[in-house]
Formats: sequence, C-alpha cells, structure tokens
Amino acid sequence: MLLRGDVAVVTGGASEHGIGRATAALFAEHGAHVAVLDIEGQGAQQAAESLGSEHRGYRCDVTKESEVEAVFSQVVKDLGLPSILFNNAGVTQPRRTAEITEADYDRVLDTNLRGTFLCSKAVLPYMRRLGRGSIICMSSVSAKRGGGIFGGPHYCAAKAGILGLARAMARELAPEGIRVNALAPGLIHTDITRGKMTAEQEADIVKSIPIGRIGEPIDVARACLFFASSLSEYITGEVMDVNGGMHID
Ligand SMILES: NC(=O)c1ccc[n+]([C@@H]2O[C@H](COP(=O)([O-])OP(=O)(O)OC[C@H]3O[C@@H](n4cnc5c(N)ncnc54)[C@H](O)[C@@H]3O)[C@@H](O)[C@H]2O)c1
Repeated sequence: MLLRGDVAVVTGGASEHGIGRATAALFAEHGAHVAVLDIEGQGAQQAAESLGSEHRGYRCDVTKESEVEAVFSQVVKDLGLPSILFNNAGVTQPRRTAEITEADYDRVLDTNLRGTFLCSKAVLPYMRRLGRGSIICMSSVSAKRGGGIFGGPHYCAAKAGILGLARAMARELAPEGIRVNALAPGLIHTDITRGKMTAEQEADIVKSIPIGRIGEPIDVARACLFFASSLSEYITGEVMDVNGGMHID
C-alpha cells in the first residue's frame, strides 16, 4: 500500500483499455481515493464505479479552464485535497506536416499541452494547502526521438512541450514540497493504437524493441505509481522512459 491516505486525480481515465484507467486501478489498489476525469463523463463515472465506492468520476474537458477549475473544486469537496495529479489525457493524429490543419494543431496541442498546464495550475492551491504533492505529466518517446509511430509533428511538439513544462514546474515547485516528473512511453497497446497496425507491422515494430514486446498499460501505470509515491521522494524534474529499450538515450 504505497498511497494510503492520498487523493489522486487521473485525467483521461475513462478509456477502458487506456493507460489512465490502468493507473487509476493501480492507485486504488495502493490505497488512494481516485478522481477519474475525462471528456467522456459517463465513462469516467463507470471507471470510478468499477474501482469501488470511495472513488469518483467526473466529466471534464481539460482544455477548458473554467471546467477544470470547477471539477478540481468538486473533487476537493467529495474526496479531500489531492496530493497526486496524473496529467494523462491526450489525443494523437498520424498526420504529416503538410496535412496538419490549424484545427488539428489546436486539438492536439490543446488537449496534451494546455490540458497539462491547466490541470497543474488548478491543483496547485490544494497541494499548497497540503504542503506536498506529486504531479506526473504524460510525454512520449516521440518527443525525444522526433516522431513516433502514431503521432505527427504536432503531437511530438506537444509532448516535447510537456517535458519543458514539467521540468520548469519541477524547479519552481520543489521548495514547496511539490514534485513534478514525466513519463515517456514507447508504443503501448491501448485504444490509441488498437486496430491501427497489421500483424506484419506489429511484428516489425516488435523487432525494434529489445525487450521483445509492445508495452501494456500496466507497464506505464507501475512507473507512474513510482513517481506518485514516496519511493521517488528525492526525484523531481525527471523523465522516465517506458519503452522496452526501443529508445535509449
Ligand atoms: N498508447 C501509446 O502508445 C502511448 C505512447 C506514449 C504516450 N501516450 C500517451 O498516453 C496518454 C493516454 O493515452 P492512451 O494510449 O491510454 O489513449 P486512450 O485514447 O485510451 O486514452 C486517452 C483518454 O483521454 C481522454 N480525453 C481526450 N481528450 C480529452 C479532453 N479534452 N479532456 C479530458 N479527457 C480527454 C479520452 O476520452 C480517453 O479516455 C495520452 O496522453 C497519450 O498521448 C500513449
């Protein structure tokens, strides 16, 4: 039980086979009371119900500051002050530069980068009241190696922006007892990737992964648990690769 007494907010936690949902479940298993936020409100509620009665689900579009602030205030009323925030909500698009419209750019940058910024800003007053906190931001291997398999340049830019944001927040907030770290997963089996590869493509990708398999949501959830818990209490501003050795830097 690494998170007994913690209230954890997980954004983008509705998706049944997603990283957010697997992480919410692992946090709950470790004793946290979890608030699942998602633009799919019903899915968020179902996800929370599946974890047990001490957890809550909320509809929230992380790109809208007023919605984000209102939801965080409701979470505090329902569950108490959050000590953990997992900025996981994100969308991707496998587009090439010339195909990216302004609307595509806005959607991808807003959901990933603006959402991470707005949720981090919204949780701060509550973590300050607690005098401690752990914020985990979701980047991607694509931010490091200049391209992923399913993300276009706008997605890479958003995920690289998240690394800069996380590092700057880490430096700023450490004196207040708030740590900020980031995860950079490689390819993970979720709804973002499901049905988008042929068996041959998948076999080719596996050949490029030294550990010899595509990642599962639980692989990322475990890394997130490490950052969320006191196991990492002397670590801030760090980026953890969760990629089976696909990219080593
Ligand atoms: N799957 C991978 O291979 C992989 C690799 C690296 C990073 N990531 C990142 O991991 C995170 C989770 O992805 P996943 O693979 O579990 O995908 P997913 O599609 O299963 O989950 C994403 C969730 O975010 C929610 N969401 C989308 N827009 C939102 C908004 N505006 N407000 C609130 N919620 C919103 C969706 O409804 C969904 O539940 C994303 O940030 C993604 O970029 C995924």
